[in-house]
Amino acid sequence: MALGPDGKPYKTRADVDMARESQAQAFAKRRAALAAKKQLGKGGVEAARLAVLAPNIPVTSLEKTNKLAWALTYLSHRFGPREKLLTYEGTGQSGIHIMADTGTVALYGDWASGTLAAAQVAARIREHRPEHTIHMGDIYFVGDEDEARENFLGEDVPGSPWQAVAFPRGSQRSFALNGNHEMYARGRGYFRRVLPALDQQASFFALQNDHWRIIGLDSGYHSISWPFWELLFRPDCHLPDAVVNWLKELVTKPRPGDPKEPRGTIILTHHQPFSFYEPGFPRLMEQIGAVLGGPVLWFWGHEHWLSVYAPVERAGLEIHGRCIGHGGMPCEPPGQKRDPSCPILLEDHRILDTGAQVVLWPNGYAMLGFDGPELRVDYRDAEGTLVAHEGWTLREGKIVMTEAPVADADGVGPPL
Ligand SMILES: [Fe+2]
Ligand SMILES: [Fe+2]
Repeated sequence: MALGPDGKPYKTRADVDMARESQAQAFAKRRAALAAKKQLGKGGVEAARLAVLAPNIPVTSLEKTNKLAWALTYLSHRFGPREKLLTYEGTGQSGIHIMADTGTVALYGDWASGTLAAAQVAARIREHRPEHTIHMGDIYFVGDEDEARENFLGEDVPGSPWQAVAFPRGSQRSFALNGNHEMYARGRGYFRRVLPALDQQASFFALQNDHWRIIGLDSGYHSISWPFWELLFRPDCHLPDAVVNWLKELVTKPRPGDPKEPRGTIILTHHQPFSFYEPGFPRLMEQIGAVLGGPVLWFWGHEHWLSVYAPVERAGLEIHGRCIGHGGMPCEPPGQKRDPSCPILLEDHRILDTGAQVVLWPNGYAMLGFDGPELRVDYRDAEGTLVAHEGWTLREGKIVMTEAPVADADGVGPPL
């Protein structure tokens, strides 16, 4: 069993589960899950996931496979007002943060799970000593205040049997996007704990230098609607009006002493605008496309794997999409569904050796290395191994690819 520095176990991985049930039971369950996977396709993948997560009730509490735990958690968190959306109005702040022309930014998504993988990814990111780190959203499992403390801020929560895991802090500063799991507890952990700890005024921001601008947007706030209603009618994760208005002002009003507009644009959202494997959230593209135009590099999470997409033209945008939601949750392979209109160039579908008969893909993160107009993006796994990389530059403020995404590890490539 993997123990943390406090002598407590990390959450959810197979070795933790193994300590909580007999080995024979565990293997029987995993064998059954594997057989189910072969027979049932996507349903089987769900069963395989359950085999990894099942003994830990908090982990499975929002997994619909554990219906009783899921229902209790849902009922205990989803009623009541959501936290007020924080904005920059009246604060004297613009939400624009400056970074040096040369430096690194670490991006990691769906990380705040308290798993051993999350601790490993955080450790690898710290080794790079990035100036900035940005969590792409999802604090598990409902993002309440205790979970935000334990799984994101790394604070010991009295009475908890689990090892707390701290986010990797940038030497300059760190940011966190809002995800759907934060909103399951109506944003309490995120708005009350995480944002103050990061000295981040709102759930949207820009981080820019003279050449590039990273724009973090809040697709999480409207990922919930009315309790029960939201289960029947999937929320569209649209950006709140205040976020759209801020974005308009950001890109249309040059600021004093800001001669180099436009910059190369990098968009960050928790949710995917489109996906090869799952339904997308097209409203995000419509909202952003109505304000911005041209090519954008767009990183998202929500789906727990690494996908590097071919460019897709939607809503007036040329989107170079990258899904990096494999930061800390067990990375289950996707189901059988495919959308050929948004093809994937590269994904990390190497099978992890978990010591159990479940199929998991590697966890990991992305490092953005800025050097004036040049940008290199490295995709690394939880061991720190380089998985893939790509290169970009700017011409007249527009992003131009200088090195197409390259697989750097055996077994990384287009979908099988
Ligand atoms: Fe997630
Ligand atoms: Fe999510």
